Amino acid sequence: MKVSLIVFFFLVTSSSTTCFQQTSNEDYITTQIHLLRPKSGAAGYKVPQIDCLSWRLAVETYNLRNWKLVPESCENYVGHYMQGKQYRDDCEAVADIAINYAKNLTLARDGKEIWVFDIDETTLSNMPYYARSSVQFGAIPYNDTTFNAWVAEGKAPAVPGALRLYRTLLSLGIKPVFISGTKDIYRKVRISNLKKVGYLKWEKLILKGEADKGSAVEYKSKRRTELVEAGYRIVGNIGDQWSDLLGTNVGDRTFKVPDPMYYIG
Ligand SMILES: *[C@@H]1O[C@H](CO)[C@@H](O)[C@H](O)[C@H]1NC(C)=O
Ligand SMILES: *[C@@H]1O[C@H](CO)[C@@H](O)[C@H](O)[C@H]1NC(C)=O
Repeated sequence: MKVSLIVFFFLVTSSSTTCFQQTSNEDYITTQIHLLRPKSGAAGYKVPQIDCLSWRLAVETYNLRNWKLVPESCENYVGHYMQGKQYRDDCEAVADIAINYAKNLTLARDGKEIWVFDIDETTLSNMPYYARSSVQFGAIPYNDTTFNAWVAEGKAPAVPGALRLYRTLLSLGIKPVFISGTKDIYRKVRISNLKKVGYLKWEKLILKGEADKGSAVEYKSKRRTELVEAGYRIVGNIGDQWSDLLGTNVGDRTFKVPDPMYYIG
């Protein structure tokens, strides 16, 4: 009798211990699911930010094309992304990958190896302009007058990671070539802006002249083809727009930096 009581007591104790562990484990799982639920948008919740994240992914992957404006409901999201840590991390990650690629190249070092850089949102950042309340990170229609006035100030900072890539390429003997959709009338201010933030030299700085017509893909393809015909080899090409990276003579490898603020076809 005494022995069975002790056994009974042991069973109760051990089962209640097990029970306690299960409860705490369930609490833990519940907490995790509770944390995940709003992020996944599961369980019937409508989570507006998730739509913006999907929208940005569609933009970056070129699933979404020819879009005119950041959706109004995503203005806050894009603003937070651009001004926050994630945009910087994303840009630095692109630079890391491009640097690894460049360092691993077997180079001829004959002065003909070049790397094509776009300028806006690739080399120089227009974020101070895009953060204005009259621009709202691309949620308000593009205004040529105010944007050009901003460019003419020559105050654009460098895009995160871009200078690190630029300097690595120079140290490897790969020559930078800038090809930008900026009009050639801004050449002087663009040069002073580039130099001010640390881009000190380049093989060529190609800006859009009066004679350059057609889409960005056509313009950039034509200019890259001219470089290849002049004997240059494009070992890498980096841009924030797919129109920088598509077309002819795109280079041995292309790199896309993020830009959810505007689309240039
Ligand atoms: C580096 O280059 C070698 C051959 O030159 C190649 O096999 C290897 O995959 C490359 N590594 C990276 C990280 O690109
Ligand atoms: C662009 O901005 C200028 C200066 O604020 C303004 O006068 C002009 O109306 C704007 N243009 C458009 C198309 O909104």
